[in-house]
Amino acid sequence: MQADKLVNRFPELNLATNSRLPALCNLSKAELEEVELALENSIVNSATKINLGDLGIIHTGRGIFEYVVQKEAILFRTERRSESLPQPSDKHKLPPELQDSVAVFSNLSGKSLGAAVASELGIPVGTLDFKQFKDGELSLAIKNNIRDREVFLVAGTSSPVNEQLLELFITIDAFKQASAGRITLVMPYFGYARQDKKLKGREPITAKLLAKLLESAGADRVVALEIHSDQSRGFFDIPFENLRASSVLLPYLRKHFVSDDLMVISPDSGGVKRAQYYATKLAAPFAMIYKNRSEANQIETMTVLGEVRGKTCLIVDDMIDTGGTLCKAAQKLKEAGALKVVACCVHPVLSDDAIEKLRASEIEELVTTDSISLRRSKGEQIKVVTIAPLIAEAILRMATRRSVSELENVEVDI
Ligand code: R5P
Repeated sequence: MQADKLVNRFPELNLATNSRLPALCNLSKAELEEVELALENSIVNSATKINLGDLGIIHTGRGIFEYVVQKEAILFRTERRSESLPQPSDKHKLPPELQDSVAVFSNLSGKSLGAAVASELGIPVGTLDFKQFKDGELSLAIKNNIRDREVFLVAGTSSPVNEQLLELFITIDAFKQASAGRITLVMPYFGYARQDKKLKGREPITAKLLAKLLESAGADRVVALEIHSDQSRGFFDIPFENLRASSVLLPYLRKHFVSDDLMVISPDSGGVKRAQYYATKLAAPFAMIYKNRSEANQIETMTVLGEVRGKTCLIVDDMIDTGGTLCKAAQKLKEAGALKVVACCVHPVLSDDAIEKLRASEIEELVTTDSISLRRSKGEQIKVVTIAPLIAEAILRMATRRSVSELENVEVDI
């Protein structure tokens, strides 16, 4: 009955029945409305067409649903209510007197995260109505009044990154034209952040260019999550906050991986500070790998520095892109006598055949976040811990003029 209602509301979605659908049908009227809202925000208003095989997560106040798109139908595959994916709580709710002055929106790839963040804050997510002209140009209408309001745009910049960036510039400009009070861009994964220096002659510094473009478009403040290198904040002349994923990852790691033989590993010299921080917090020893690249995404050599024999090695990295770094590091650790290798990274870029590479690798489990929403089935080996409560807490602190930098050492139970 309730599933029928969903189909009526969204005739373009022919909800197929499968063994998991009853979980959806059991929802109460209020819960169903949340699913409808999340669906509306995640799918129906998107400018990009839904593709076969797309995988998504719908966060609702009631639970988290995974869906996969098959032949113009959406199969709800899993209803997940694990501890690593906390339910919205009152902890991050905006005080009633501020609920009208704060607005949360999301771009296409930040849709499900944006909905979860808004749900944590106890406000509805705003609606951006994108249309695409025949020649590919975008038009946008903001469906909510944002005059003089604090506007937060939860924006992903994952693949197709260049398209999404243009969508972002257009959205920021639309906020500006609509007299938003202040525009804060929340970019959990900051695309192009690795291109932050000139290593050879005639190379661009694209991370800096992007910072300038976002400012010119009208962003007043940027909130990132573990931007590739801390010094990139220097590219911005507007306030820039860099949240730490350790706030949500450490509780999971402590619960699932802490053992007497645990050792934290940095897969390259750039990640030493991060991995050492995790080692200290998990009271585990630390080792590193020396990595030499011949060109982007191509690793030449890797050397393990430290005694890893008999250890459960936890590799900590900021991102997994092609999977080359993690998989090769795991292989080197095993060759050096490691008992078991697990990994943790902030941003699951997972481009190319990274998921297949991971499956074939020595890595038993990879823990990551939803800073990038996964578009393909990830399987059991990859565990996703949501950053929604962390982002909501950061927004709450900004809206109530409290410190955001103090969040750095705070864990998810905030
Ligand atoms: C490198 O500096 C980063 O921290 C990551 O290790 C790297 O970007 C991962 O890329 P891939 O998965 O393609 O090796």
